Amino acid sequence: PTATTRTPEGALQVAGADVRALVAEHGTPVYLLDEADVRRRAVAFRDAFATAFERIGTRADVYYAGKAFLSTALARWITQEGLRLDVCTGGELAIARRAGVPGANIGLHGNNKSMTEIAEAVEYGVGRIVVDSFEEVDRVASVARARGVVVPVMIRVKAGVEAHTHEFIATAHEDQKFGFSLAGGQVSDAVAAVLKHPDALALLGFHSHIGSQIFEAEGFRVAATRLIALQLEVAREHGITLPELDLGGGFGIAYLPDDRPMAPQELADQLAEIVATACHEQGAPVPHISVEPGRAIVGPGGVTVYEVGTVKPVQATDDLVRTYVSVDGGMSDNARPALYDARYTCVLANRTSDAAPVQSRVVGKHCESGDIVVRDVLLPGDVHAGDLIAVPATGAYCRSLASQYNHTPRPPVVAVRDGASRVVVRRETVADLLALEGE
Ligand code: LLP
Repeated sequence: PTATTRTPEGALQVAGADVRALVAEHGTPVYLLDEADVRRRAVAFRDAFATAFERIGTRADVYYAGKAFLSTALARWITQEGLRLDVCTGGELAIARRAGVPGANIGLHGNNKSMTEIAEAVEYGVGRIVVDSFEEVDRVASVARARGVVVPVMIRVKAGVEAHTHEFIATAHEDQKFGFSLAGGQVSDAVAAVLKHPDALALLGFHSHIGSQIFEAEGFRVAATRLIALQLEVAREHGITLPELDLGGGFGIAYLPDDRPMAPQELADQLAEIVATACHEQGAPVPHISVEPGRAIVGPGGVTVYEVGTVKPVQATDDLVRTYVSVDGGMSDNARPALYDARYTCVLANRTSDAAPVQSRVVGKHCESGDIVVRDVLLPGDVHAGDLIAVPATGAYCRSLASQYNHTPRPPVVAVRDGASRVVVRRETVADLLALEGE
């Protein structure tokens, strides 16, 4: 993770700025985002996929998955760096439009898009809509027909693979909401349903997303092999060659010091080998590939900074005293520990300390005992009220999943670059919350 350099006085620096100065200016809690880090990762993905797939004679587009975190500034950075954008709601689309992301560069996802969302997307000319149900095939077709346009669509498929970190399982796991099943001919029916509307829909190909925080590419082999077999089946049955294949996102990042995610080039090379092999073995043409990383682009460059309010030693077990360090945020700004039992680490950010480290747990200010930010960490024994705690790798699925639980205004997102900071999402205020109230 970033957040490793210190000023001569021992304060943490993020993108060349002293966190004490950032906090004096922007308050706590605050999400800091290292702009250069995000741009660097975007470029790394773009170049890695371009070169790896060029080698196997095709093209690969990288769609940044906006669900990880989206704001006007972020949409502009990734567009400037040559990435496309995956959105999954009208809200995300509105941000993309505000940022001026060209429609052709946008893909729309979601398992229950409203008619309004579909209409807005078609109106804006999005490059593709990933359809997820039979109802939706008809809805997109009717919107397209009413506007006299042909909308490019992909069909979301349950590839029967679930991948997470080092493990993947090829399953017949059907019991989840996304996509069409391979079983029972559902995918073939979806293809037929799309092809019924040649005046309104253009079928690009299949899409699957197999999991998140993935550290090994093998799970993609199963998915790619199955999807390529499906594309061939379509060629045989309908006489058309589907030009594209989307492998989804889910590429892992380092949350803890021992995490070793794949570098973008290693990942792209392995995925290219997987696609080339699957196509070769089945005698299929190599399609254009797309991927949708979110976390791997925006996650590592994010650092959340909190202020410590209370410190309480607790006799956790007979032989363990755990220090509970309460900070001024918590599950409202980082829901991941409560939602997924996600693990983070943290550092004392405003100073260094020679005090002996003690077993600590950093907790939030909310009315739940599950309101944990960092479950287990060694922090100096002299941490006290007013100290700053920084949690790295919080750029993805923290601000985007933030809530106003306990009527807590959501923290701002501050972009930092070359020592200078800029608010890209302002802090919410209690006045913002009160503005929602009726009598
Ligand atoms: N494409 C699709 C269709 C997805 O559903 C997702 C994530 C992505 C791409 C991007 O995945 P990424 O590269 O960011 O892992 N909130 C959870 C993760 C939920 C992911 C949902 N879909 C977490 O914080 O771990």
